[in-house]
Parts: sequence; structure tokens; C-alpha cells
Amino acid sequence: MTTDNYSLDNYVADLRAITAESSDEDEILSRVGPLAQRFVTDRSWLQPKHYETDQEQGFGVHLLHEEPDHSLAVLAINWLPGKGTPPHDHGTWAVVVGVEGTEHNIGYRRLDDGSKSDYAELEIKHEFDAAGGELVCMKTGGIHKVTNETDHMTLSVHTYGRHINYTSRSQFDLDTNRKQRFIVKVE
Ligand SMILES: [Fe+2]
Repeated sequence: MTTDNYSLDNYVADLRAITAESSDEDEILSRVGPLAQRFVTDRSWLQPKHYETDQEQGFGVHLLHEEPDHSLAVLAINWLPGKGTPPHDHGTWAVVVGVEGTEHNIGYRRLDDGSKSDYAELEIKHEFDAAGGELVCMKTGGIHKVTNETDHMTLSVHTYGRHINYTSRSQFDLDTNRKQRFIVKVE
């Protein structure tokens, strides 16, 4: 049996090359997606600490790689059963690949014109489950919500064009239409 050795270092080197060659997000997403799937097939990076979670936040965020200037970030994120995120954007492109379990995604479209800085009206665009090995790719401005509706912890690897705590990204309250900064606790 042959093993595909594709380490974190290999993945990061490819991410650097792709983003140096292109700033077109469609091209970046189409090239990074298959590499993210390849990266999670080789589980040499996966450690017990990646299953440690933040009870208060409902999910645990672990940094696998970040460039010194915060461009490019690779994070392992786990979700407790029944927990999830509010609707949010990323302020950059995002490639999410499932590692364990099935994460429920709801994608939203923006209905207002964006002229008010703390206000947004959203409607559901699509809803789907992403299982291990499956991709969720979003360009800058894409809005989604992730929940774990299973009985077990889920784990996925998230690759961003910039560390998400260093973009001006937002979370959205569907009841009040309030839009505010979204920062996550990272281990
Ligand atoms: Fe997200």
C-alpha cells in the first residue's frame, strides 16, 4: 500500500505558491480545495489536543499554521454536539474540509445594500451537510453558519487567505439584523 505523504509543510508551501501566482479567488479556491482534501487524508498532523474544545464558545479552534503577517492561516476546529456558530463571514476566502463527523451548513445571501455598517438583512440561500473529506469553499463576502447536529464531536480543517481574527469580519444576528465584529478564541 502506498502512503501519500502530504505534510503540513507541503500544504503550506503549496498555499504560498498558489497565492503568489494568483489573486483570483475562483482560481485559488479551485486549486486549494483538492490540496486541503489531500492534507486531511494524511493525518500525521492530527494530535489529541485538536479535540480539546472551549465549553463556553462551544467549539475549539487550534492554529496549525499562520504566516507572520497573518496572511494564510490553517486552523483545526472542533464542534461539540448541538453547538455551532452564528451566521458569519470571513473577510477573506475560506476552504473548509471535513475531517470527522458531519457539519451542517446554512449559506446566506445579503438582502440590504450594505450602506449601514452595523446592519444586515440575510436570507437563506442553501442548506447542506458536509461530511469528512467534503469541501465548503467561500469567496470573500460569503456568509454561512455551521452547526453540529450530531451526537459526536466534529472536526474540520479551515484554510483562510488571512487569519480570521485579523480581518474585519462580522457575525450577524438574524433576529435584530445587527452586524458586529466576530472574534474567536484560538488555542
Ligand atoms: Fe466560517
